[in-house]
Amino acid sequence: MRGLGRYYELDVTCQGEADPQTGYFLNIKTIDQAVREHVLPMLIERVNDEAGAAATPMGGLMRRVLEAIDPPLNGTVCQVRLVLTPTLSFGIERDDMDHVVMRQQYEFSAAHRLHVPTLSEEQNQATFGKCNNPAGHGHNYRVEVAVRCPIDAQGQSLDPAELDAVVDREAIEKLDHKHLNVDVPQFATLNPSVENIVKVVWQMLAGKLPGGVTLDEVKVWETGKTVCAYRGE
Ligand code: NI
Repeated sequence: MRGLGRYYELDVTCQGEADPQTGYFLNIKTIDQAVREHVLPMLIERVNDEAGAAATPMGGLMRRVLEAIDPPLNGTVCQVRLVLTPTLSFGIERDDMDHVVMRQQYEFSAAHRLHVPTLSEEQNQATFGKCNNPAGHGHNYRVEVAVRCPIDAQGQSLDPAELDAVVDREAIEKLDHKHLNVDVPQFATLNPSVENIVKVVWQMLAGKLPGGVTLDEVKVWETGKTVCAYRGE
């Protein structure tokens, strides 16, 4: 959808059984038409209201989007997600209409060495290969944080700037331009694999979010192809 130079994406997830004869559950054209007819006018209104766009109560908007798209799709919609920028999105689930899930991405650059002292030099070499290099090596890490935010009576949820402030203060500043094994206490005895990094980022953020907001998922990309997600214990 285009308007004022912005480009949005809308993900609609429907759940149900395929028709045994056609093999179709829903014709993709039906979804397309329902979005054009019932959701686009709502989003265009938001975009055209330039003064209000930044302050749009995203919780209320997402709730209205799901409520508008569900009846024309026979009550099969289980989730909708509106992607506002390449990294920022808001989602709502049918089973939890009192919250939105906000996702945002962050970056940090750091060095690490994969090495486990209880293994022999040969075992470390065999397990970690080049990543066992004694002087370490670096990555540009990407972190995605998803938080579940209550929707208040005005339809407001968490301001993305508030999430940015918490993630910067509690995680990014502690990891960026650091040697993880040397500078970050959590990795003094813990191997800084991407699996352990994602858990440490979760622990850094858990309990630090403003009232009622909870962590839903943390993802860390070590490279474009290597990513690990964590949703808590
Ligand atoms: Ni590495």
